[in-house]
Amino acid sequence: MWTLWQLIGFFSLIKMILQLDCQIPPLVNDCNPCYFSPLKSVHWGLLRTVLMMSLSSLFNMQGLWTALAGLVLGMIFVHIQFPYLLQDCKYGWTLFRIKLKRDGFRKRKPFYTVLECFLERVRRQPDKALIIFEGREYSYLYVDRQSNRVARALRTHADLREGDTVAFFMSNDPSYAWLWFGLCKLGCAASLLNYNIRSKSLLHCFSCCGARVLIASEELKAAVEEVLPTLLEQNISVFILSKDCNTPGIETLLDKMEQASDEPISPELRSKVTMVSPAVYVYTSGTTVINHDKLWAITLYLSTCGATSDDVIYSPLPLYHGAGFNLGLHGAIERGMTVILRRKFSASAFWDDCRIHNVTIIQYIGETMRYLCNTPEREIDKTHKVRMAIGNGLREDVWRSFQGRFGHIRIVEFYTASESNIGFMNYTGKMGAVGRENFYQKRLCPYALVQFDAEREEPLRDSNGLCIPTPEGETGLLVSEITSAAPFLGYCGSPEQTEKKQMRNVFQKGDVYLNSGDLLRFDKDNFIYFQDRVGDTFRWKGENVATTEVECVLVALNFIEDACVYGVKIPGTEGKIGMAAVTLKAGREFSCSEAFLHVSKYLPPYAQPQFIRIQSCLETTGTFKQVKSSLVREGFNPSSINDLLYFLMPRDKCYKPMTQIYYNSVIAGELRI
Ligand SMILES: *[C@@H]1O[C@H](CO)[C@@H](O)[C@H](O)[C@H]1NC(C)=O
Ligand SMILES: *[C@@H]1O[C@H](CO)[C@@H](O)[C@H](O)[C@H]1NC(C)=O
Ligand SMILES: *[C@@H]1O[C@H](CO)[C@@H](O)[C@H](O)[C@H]1NC(C)=O
Repeated sequence: MWTLWQLIGFFSLIKMILQLDCQIPPLVNDCNPCYFSPLKSVHWGLLRTVLMMSLSSLFNMQGLWTALAGLVLGMIFVHIQFPYLLQDCKYGWTLFRIKLKRDGFRKRKPFYTVLECFLERVRRQPDKALIIFEGREYSYLYVDRQSNRVARALRTHADLREGDTVAFFMSNDPSYAWLWFGLCKLGCAASLLNYNIRSKSLLHCFSCCGARVLIASEELKAAVEEVLPTLLEQNISVFILSKDCNTPGIETLLDKMEQASDEPISPELRSKVTMVSPAVYVYTSGTTVINHDKLWAITLYLSTCGATSDDVIYSPLPLYHGAGFNLGLHGAIERGMTVILRRKFSASAFWDDCRIHNVTIIQYIGETMRYLCNTPEREIDKTHKVRMAIGNGLREDVWRSFQGRFGHIRIVEFYTASESNIGFMNYTGKMGAVGRENFYQKRLCPYALVQFDAEREEPLRDSNGLCIPTPEGETGLLVSEITSAAPFLGYCGSPEQTEKKQMRNVFQKGDVYLNSGDLLRFDKDNFIYFQDRVGDTFRWKGENVATTEVECVLVALNFIEDACVYGVKIPGTEGKIGMAAVTLKAGREFSCSEAFLHVSKYLPPYAQPQFIRIQSCLETTGTFKQVKSSLVREGFNPSSINDLLYFLMPRDKCYKPMTQIYYNSVIAGELRI
């Protein structure tokens, strides 16, 4: 007998077959990435049919087998049609859980900051090692006690009060942890300075965040002394992490910490801290302030990747970076893990470290993975417990050789920037992709790719002044809507730069989007690929280089009139290396040795222009913006450029005239630069 359900099922089957018939061509080259696109309706028809038939059979005991068969068929169908559906849902669910968690943190009073989370961990697992560094273990409890000492010492000797900022100028060292939590306990923020910077750049970064105190590692004393007069003029308290120091104006911190009590600090001292209070300042393309709310977003990243308290994370990345400090250290604390910290990345020690400490998660940037692949092969290459690698900037070829050599390690590549309000994560097994479009994420914070004019380095606008979405599969500029759920905190001390980063009237009059400055591509299966970075920064050796900063340093040379700095690609390396096109002052000549001395004095190695090109004038647009695109295209090949060309030779401490031989060996990857 036919039941009502079977009838409905039968008719929807017929309907579907009819639909299928007329829809086969568009189905075959269905490129629409949207899950609920009209083109897919036929699939939903099929799915509905299978469900209906299964339901119908439930009402009829005979049909139990039919029901099972229907279910299996349905599952196979879903799997073929939407191979990533399960992973998409899982990731969507993870995002949802994290959102709930963050909403919960926001509602709690007093505000639940990473400090409260840390204190909870201290209560639950006081004796577990939080950091292992150069053979010594530092337990959760130890870090907590030390941070109490820090708080007392700084309150007494630097008169720190809630809302103040302290700058760290330190190499990787466990004291980052207790200094930071000490500051947290006083309701203060930390500013993480890159320890490679010197003199003017150091002062500039220091003053951006309005810090009142500077704390430096002992080995960076000389760099501090260089800027000390200026700091003292501004009444900055300068501390060094040692017990004695005979430079007037520099105070020692370790002895003061030793004298201070390690009893808990009263929460009263931080009672005004809210989720929007600044927590950490980092330097990327500008001074980026990370408030407690945003800090949670980064901290919870490890949890999104599925890390547990049994994991051990290896962090050879610098702690002054968001990735090392916020994601690695805080993420580990939130999960209750142990961090294996290293002063500096070392390719030869990497795997031995991992084996000794039973490391299960490693943090990387593209360059470090390449260095690991370039080490001599060893028999024990695959003997380790590493199960996951988290980072960004990994290229497909490196990934291939990495997994071939070191075994199957889950690679979680992500895309984001400290100042950005959006991030993507590679949660499926797709090679080369930095992530995948997720319907839930897109609802949570809308984003899009828009067409970009590479010559003028601006998004294209239509006749109404609105941006034009990029056709599918093509490269475009990533923009993400700035909303209360996905805010943009801006750069501190630089309203112009903040404004420049925001794009208005993107899809409608009055809307505001964040310009990521990155060119991305979404493929037809919703995978996201990083293509290039545009604008005023480029990355080299894992560091952001701000072109304007390098330009300022160059024009300070007495023979340089004007400079235009940009990055050029070198085969076999990640990122772009710095190159400068400069014009000389009338009647002056380019001095190779002076240029070297100046550049190496004022710029960290990764920001020093590797190539300098002398031009008679620099091309500008109608609005006097420099035209970099043609310079980038022309590159540094001496045979195709008629201008004088120099390259940096650190070994000889000077710039040298470019030769075809040098060019060829750079291109062939024979020279390590
Ligand atoms: C530094 O402190 C002195 C004395 O306390 C004060 O006179 C001076 O104005 C301060 N300078 C700055 C730049 O704040
Ligand atoms: C690493 O794991 C091995 C075996 O599971 C164990 O014997 C060893 O003690 C562990 N090492 C550390 C540092 O935990
Ligand atoms: C994306 O993740 C998969 C699975 O973990 C991995 O095999 C692949 O290499 C990742 N892609 C990148 C670019 O990291």
